[in-house]
Amino acid sequence: MSTIILGIESSCDDTSAAIIKDGYLLSNVVASQAVHEAYGGVVPELASRAHQQNIVPVVHEALKRAGVSKEELSAIAFTRGPGLMGSLLVGVSFAKGMARSLGIPMIDVNHLSGHVLAHFIQVKDEEHKQPVFPFLCLLVSGGNSQIILVKAYNDMEILGQTIDDAAGEAIDKCSKVMGLGYPGGPIIDKLARQGNPKAYSFSKPHIPGLDYSFSGLKTSFLYSLRNWLQEEPDFIERHKADLAASLEATIVDILMDKLRKAAKQYAIRQVAVAGGVSANNGLRNAFMDYAKRYGWDVFIPQFGYTTDNAAMIAMAGYFKYQDRDFCPMEAPAYSRVTL
Ligand code: KG4
Repeated sequence: MSTIILGIESSCDDTSAAIIKDGYLLSNVVASQAVHEAYGGVVPELASRAHQQNIVPVVHEALKRAGVSKEELSAIAFTRGPGLMGSLLVGVSFAKGMARSLGIPMIDVNHLSGHVLAHFIQVKDEEHKQPVFPFLCLLVSGGNSQIILVKAYNDMEILGQTIDDAAGEAIDKCSKVMGLGYPGGPIIDKLARQGNPKAYSFSKPHIPGLDYSFSGLKTSFLYSLRNWLQEEPDFIERHKADLAASLEATIVDILMDKLRKAAKQYAIRQVAVAGGVSANNGLRNAFMDYAKRYGWDVFIPQFGYTTDNAAMIAMAGYFKYQDRDFCPMEAPAYSRVTL
């Protein structure tokens, strides 16, 4: 008999549902919320309202595209945390209601491990190279910057993480200071391709071990910009491509430097990247460059699986289903939870 998992993701501002059948992805539907653009950041109350509007049509569409009826589902996997509580509650409550009405088990998924396990998403008849355990994964998003030692599907250890801002958060804030739109990541990425990454230098952190810090860089960017604007009021407009390229290069350098240290320390050459910031071209190029320089075998997710999506939640749920690792109906959502 087939194993069919419905995955539900609603941790931040994307409502998503996906179907995985016997380990293969059949559908992945994502409804993004444009409502936050006007505010320059995610507004939690608006996010949870939009999830409420989107969840039913998104799940319906995922089932339809997969050609699967809800009665065929084996289990429902959902993001339990970390994330915005109001957003999580919509997905968690929906999963509970649907699982109970169908009389099938529920599987709770940690959003962070979902990002890591996105590397195992397979689509029938598509070639896809997967990492072999143990491997390192750099998880970089709007809320996290972590180096993870992935020993098995269900065994992950954080080797280092940011002590303040996440990389994506720093990019978004610097982009906001420059008066660019939201989210800043893709805008900075696009501008950076036309700029000189060596035009400006910003301060880099000196943090021991494998941890990261990005708040100093953010402050350095802000103060430098303030000085330049005093001398040249249209400084940003004239130099935005160079500013974006230099900022991106600094962040990529910081991320790769610690990752290289971790790879050396743990003698691992299988290195993956995951999370929203892994869509960044500068970071992807750095991975390819390190692959050549250090003989790494690198794993970079397809663009659709970098930002929040339910395919990764369904995939993680599929693995837990093999272990019959289900969660009780009263399982609460967690806004803060580690791996
Ligand atoms: O993983 P994600 O969708 O959401 C969570 O934070 O969980 O990541 C969103 C972050 C945002 O900070 C966004 O600006 C960043 O990923 N991002 C990018 C790019 N695309 C998204 N950062 C740099 N370059 C990109 N192309």
